[in-house]
Amino acid sequence: MNDRPYVLLSCGMSIDGYVDDATAERLLLSNDADFDRVDAVRASCDAILVGAGTVRQDNPRLLVRSAERRQARVALGRRPTPVKVTVTGSCDLDPGAAFFALGEVDKLVYCASPVVRRAQATLGFVATVIDGGDPVDLRWVTADLSERGIDRLMVEGGGTMHTQFLAAGLADELQLVVAPFFVGDSRAPRFVRDGPFPCGPQRPARLVETRQIGDVVLLRYALSDRFGGMG
Ligand SMILES: NC(=O)c1ccc[n+]([C@@H]2O[C@H](COP(=O)([O-])OP(=O)(O)OC[C@H]3O[C@@H](n4cnc5c(N)ncnc54)[C@H](OP(=O)(O)O)[C@@H]3O)[C@@H](O)[C@H]2O)c1
Repeated sequence: MNDRPYVLLSCGMSIDGYVDDATAERLLLSNDADFDRVDAVRASCDAILVGAGTVRQDNPRLLVRSAERRQARVALGRRPTPVKVTVTGSCDLDPGAAFFALGEVDKLVYCASPVVRRAQATLGFVATVIDGGDPVDLRWVTADLSERGIDRLMVEGGGTMHTQFLAAGLADELQLVVAPFFVGDSRAPRFVRDGPFPCGPQRPARLVETRQIGDVVLLRYALSDRFGGMG
């Protein structure tokens, strides 16, 4: 019995390790076939988590796109699309964002203690607001998600979230897609920031799959003994 969900990190990056460029426009780091693969991974999960920065910057929908996959979930007694989860210290989130507006599914906002009341006032009618501590403690968040029935969690960024999940040893799998171009601008965000990552040179991650998908490549790493399973 585990006290947290199986945690799968998913990220697309440029050859030089950037997850976006420095403009306000979202940079696409994948192709249609890979977006469909990501859709299948989403459909296999109980919840999808992104940081508040990604909600503000990218305004993602975080839905299962394929009608067949949504129907398959419903046939199994699940919601058509996974629960959406975000984390914020500022509560600077637009209740009209696609994260909140789309999908008949629970939206969970783990916010820092000092802004809980404000978050309840501004977001309480579109989401469940949860006091996550100050700063929000991701270990506690994963334990709370487990208690809410989330067995499989997909983390779709951004770098601040990936950094914390990795550094805290809370990630079981990494699916990294490398796009065939450079960004070449150090103002752009990277996959991770500095951190005490458990998978350093002395204890490397285990590469379990490489797959060419058109002009991108998928690298799949096992980060824990739980890799591949739910347990
Ligand atoms: N290529 C990809 O696969 C991919 C995927 C997703 C995102 N991205 C890119 O990544 C960039 C965004 O990344 P990011 O690192 O800036 O943002 P992020 O990781 O999405 O979110 C960071 C924000 O989350 C909140 N947060 C994180 N940990 C917290 C904690 N422990 N306690 C309280 N709040 C916490 C804070 O929100 P507040 O500021 O509200 O306090 C923080 O500013 C964008 O450019 C986006 O396009 C790329």
